[in-house]
Amino acid sequence: MHKRFVPGHADPSFAANEEPLREPVPQPDFQQVVSARYQRRDILRGGVGLALCTMFGGLWPPRTAQASAAAGPRPASSRLGFSAVAAGSADTVVVPPGYRVQVLLPWGEPLCGEYPAFSVGNGAADQAQQMGSHHDGMHFFPLAGSSAEGLLVMNHEYAEPRFMHAAAAGLALGAVDVPLRTDGSRDPEQVLKEIYAHGVSVAHIRRDAHGVWQLVRDTRNRRITAATPMAISGPLRGDPRLRTAWSPDGTQARGTLNNCAHGVTPWGTYLACEENWRYYFVRDAGPAPVSLTRYGVEPLSAWRWHLAAGNAADDPGQFARFDASRRAESAEGDFRNEPHAFGWVVEIDPFDPQSVPVKRTHLGRFAHEGVVFAPAVEGRPLTLYSGDDARFEYIYKFVSSRPYQAASGDGSLLDEGTLYAARFSSDGSGEWLALVPGKNGLTPATGFATLADILLNTRGAADVAGATPMDRPEWGALDPATGQVYFSLTKNERRTREQASGANPRAGNAHGQIVRWREAEGDHTATTFTWELFLLAGSAGQGRDLQGQPFAQESSLSNPDGLWFDADRRLWIQTDISDEKLNTTGWSVFGNNALLAADPDTGEVRRFMVGPRGAEITGCVGTPDGATLFVNVQHPGASTSAKDFARGRLQSYWPDGGPAMPRSATLVITREDGGVVGA
Ligand code: FEO
Ligand code: CA
Ligand code: CA
Ligand code: CA
Repeated sequence: MHKRFVPGHADPSFAANEEPLREPVPQPDFQQVVSARYQRRDILRGGVGLALCTMFGGLWPPRTAQASAAAGPRPASSRLGFSAVAAGSADTVVVPPGYRVQVLLPWGEPLCGEYPAFSVGNGAADQAQQMGSHHDGMHFFPLAGSSAEGLLVMNHEYAEPRFMHAAAAGLALGAVDVPLRTDGSRDPEQVLKEIYAHGVSVAHIRRDAHGVWQLVRDTRNRRITAATPMAISGPLRGDPRLRTAWSPDGTQARGTLNNCAHGVTPWGTYLACEENWRYYFVRDAGPAPVSLTRYGVEPLSAWRWHLAAGNAADDPGQFARFDASRRAESAEGDFRNEPHAFGWVVEIDPFDPQSVPVKRTHLGRFAHEGVVFAPAVEGRPLTLYSGDDARFEYIYKFVSSRPYQAASGDGSLLDEGTLYAARFSSDGSGEWLALVPGKNGLTPATGFATLADILLNTRGAADVAGATPMDRPEWGALDPATGQVYFSLTKNERRTREQASGANPRAGNAHGQIVRWREAEGDHTATTFTWELFLLAGSAGQGRDLQGQPFAQESSLSNPDGLWFDADRRLWIQTDISDEKLNTTGWSVFGNNALLAADPDTGEVRRFMVGPRGAEITGCVGTPDGATLFVNVQHPGASTSAKDFARGRLQSYWPDGGPAMPRSATLVITREDGGVVGA
């Protein structure tokens, strides 16, 4: 028997898969100006309404929209060669005329080992050989440079238990609820299946003579899960705070969790980033180290994996490790330090199925969204950028100590260097603050005696250094021609008027923005930069483009998340309006989540694709020839209420159609004439 998890004492932000509010760091320059770009543009136009309106967090005044319309339409961007798709709320995928869509590798599809066929009744052992759930960040690694064959590697951010357990049918379960047994425990088989639905998949795929992409049976096909053994590398390797009953010397970790976006190294490995890992852990109610409290590890757990009774005799601690309470004399006797093994970037070599994934601790510990590299230059240090996706958290960059050499470059380059946090000033300038012992207030007196202290509590170090709290940094992307770095700031409805300024100009920010910056002298290792807003998301007439002009219907978007530049410098923007807001009052103008393309030179934005109901759109990446775009559809049907789930009335049955449960899946988008997608 199962009963519904009643989240009476749970943090309501579980529902949005978000981080809890923390006390924001006061900004020294709050409410001085709107962003430098918009202020300058508005002054040029001789008006102040726009600047004032932004400063006070309101919506754009209609008179500004009329003034812009009177200026006449801009010439259409030659970079965007497709007809815009209208916002919509149908339970299907909509693409422009002349395009087609194939569904590939949905959750549960047989991937490796014995290739067990998909059924909702599959057990944990089947799941370990099938595609994981909740497809997210993704990369296509061509085989021998091919655009028709490669390794598709993707993250599986999380799972939706009600859609994946046959025994959940008929229960009143919401999107984040887990089935509990009558004694309050969890079924070990269900928990193990959930553990195996997380992680990363490596899938060898090939386009056949009919243009259809298929999985190729290959020993490189692989599942990495929330239970796969991994190595700890970098400054935290062997640190006493990484010791557990499973890894008494602190050099290993078990599995990776909540892998959201990703990165691709110059030497051809894949980086999976650990985002909302804190929801999987519980701790005791006593005093806890800041390395737990600053990260939101609380005496409650959304997933309740620790409540699965009967740890297998051959696998001690598989479930107990999610309880970080102190139970033994020393750390080697319990799992108090297990949460310290998460919040990292994990390097995976997809070409070697025997390779052990490596957690690279010098890249910092936080709710990593993804990683984006600056172009690797022979003989120069390597630079990468990463955002911490929680309200009022920071954007970071890492610069390697050693120079990059193409002939010898490997993951060890990520183990030595300098981690910086970004300060965005309201005048359009910015500074990178080194998170290094003895600099920027990081001393024994502030709790940061060593580099390991700083990296284990990266958030706290950036607090002390005075980084700028942002509106939830999601993906980054790098313009291949200009070197400008773009980041999505998806939203932050808790930002107050007093906190609204600069790169985070709106109070109660419901729709988000995209910021971009240029490093001083175009040098990615520089410690200063200049920034501007690329767009302020919002509905038609309210969102603003690069020119400060109101969006038309074809450009409107909310909650930008995924970003990717193709070779022609189209910026692909993927949206993630949370499932409880999708198509509800005030949000229906946006319809379902979408994929849009933007021209970085003109700022034009045009909707390219609309996804099925309840889903987020993510993972956009193309083949080298640009003729195939892979896009992920995550959590279709998540907008289904608990009551409707119990009645068997789902918001989505995509992709299989009713009455099948909805499944996350990859889309393959091509042009009927075989041309470059988007051109
Ligand atoms: Fe998993 Fe920040 O999106
Ligand atoms: Ca995301
Ligand atoms: Ca999401
Ligand atoms: Ca998101």
